[in-house]
Amino acid sequence: MPVPWEALIPFGLLTVMFGAAGTLLNASTKGQNQGKPPRYHIDRWDEMMMKRDEQLTGHPRGQTSDPVAPPGFETRSTWYGERAP
Ligand SMILES: *[C@@H]1O[C@H](CO)[C@@H](O)[C@H](O)[C@H]1NC(C)=O
Repeated sequence: MPVPWEALIPFGLLTVMFGAAGTLLNASTKGQNQGKPPRYHIDRWDEMMMKRDEQLTGHPRGQTSDPVAPPGFETRSTWYGERAP
């Protein structure tokens, strides 16, 4: 009987390995983003807002409805100065 049952073993191995890798990548990405979906196409404005959120909450993806600015926040600007010519 020329049915290649032997091929099911590597097929199962490949399926399990790809599934494990994908699941671990998903869990790792979620962990880095506090359970939120990852952000794509981040521009300079988004980077500044994430830096502000990090200064207010301690994490770039952190959000709060009642922010209490830490001491020195008002003088710790997220705007970068232009380099003098
Ligand atoms: C993780 O998997 C879930 C379920 O398939 C999906 O909804 C979610 O977008 C995935 N998260 C990431 C960061 O890929």
